[in-house]
Amino acid sequence: MIHSRIAGTGSHLPEKVITNFDLEKMVDTTDEWIRSRTGIERRHVAADGETTVDLAEKAARRALEAAGVAPAEVDFIAFGTTTPDLVFPNCGTLLQQRLGCRGVPAFSLETACAGFMYALSIADKYIRCGEARRALVIGAETLSRITDWSDRSTAVLFADGAGAVVLEPSDAPGVLSTHLHSDGQYKDLLYCGSGVSRGFAARLAIVMAGNEVFKVAVTKLGSAVDEALAANGLDRSALDWLVPHQANIRIIQATARKLDMPMERVIVTVQEHGNTSAASVPLALDVAVRDGRIRRGDLLLLEAFGGGFTWGSALVRY
Ligand code: UT7
Repeated sequence: MIHSRIAGTGSHLPEKVITNFDLEKMVDTTDEWIRSRTGIERRHVAADGETTVDLAEKAARRALEAAGVAPAEVDFIAFGTTTPDLVFPNCGTLLQQRLGCRGVPAFSLETACAGFMYALSIADKYIRCGEARRALVIGAETLSRITDWSDRSTAVLFADGAGAVVLEPSDAPGVLSTHLHSDGQYKDLLYCGSGVSRGFAARLAIVMAGNEVFKVAVTKLGSAVDEALAANGLDRSALDWLVPHQANIRIIQATARKLDMPMERVIVTVQEHGNTSAASVPLALDVAVRDGRIRRGDLLLLEAFGGGFTWGSALVRY
């Protein structure tokens, strides 16, 4: 039986940093409020002209280097993003052209903050059925482009970044399971009300009922982690690391409590980059792999939750 395993990880944050103190000068907020309510201390924002694919290419090349895979060897690209460079060609195909892996399937999908989980799940299936051997899975965003920087309820949260993993076939299980979900009944709680078919609104901006999103996120992520463990017949004590979506430290802490995991076993990077949507899980994963916390053989639970709502988990033997 073929399984997929993570052969390498990579990430990239744009150079420009906006701190909470910078935001104090832009909207009616304080560093104290942002840190205590969200855990965020700073965020990175793309430069003028710097796009989602620019960030993704840097993350992808780092992941390929870590995996020892040449760009031309990539034979499948799944790219999660809600902030594509263009309506089309899709970001996966734009990245494929830059990497020079011509003719391979390459696509992007827009499941908001769960974009990387969806992309990972699809790539895992392609590897397991033998149709891909070197899959590049990306989560990348330039949310700063759809953030209203005069709206304190969202400006303090969202930002830009990219993360990537390379999946390859393995005899031993790497990705043990993925579970994906959506529930469009919550579509009005978190959305960007602009689009090609509906028409572009004068104000292209994320709208969020933060407090209500918070409550549903905690409940759904709690169920998602139970589901992942039950599907694998594992007790929560088997987990080495939780690699959660980096939206709010309080949501992360609630999921950790549910798993009875001390925060030392939880990868937290939200303070460094805020909510980067589809990029947040692969960014956190890459940070912890590179700083040596996550080691080969560790059991990881990845999870994300976002607009739609969409959410999902992956249980991974690294
Ligand atoms: O990744 C996709 C999923 N998204 C999320 O997971 C985000 C989920 N939601 C959250 O993270 C939190 O709900 C927020 C961080 C957005 C807000 O935190 P909260 O503890 O839920 O605050 P709240 O919305 O209940 O607002 C509390 C107070 C309000 O003032 P009053 O009515 O109590 O006087 C807000 O007006 O905080 C005020 N407030 C702010 N104050 C200073 C809201 N935003 C700010 C701000 N600075 N930036």
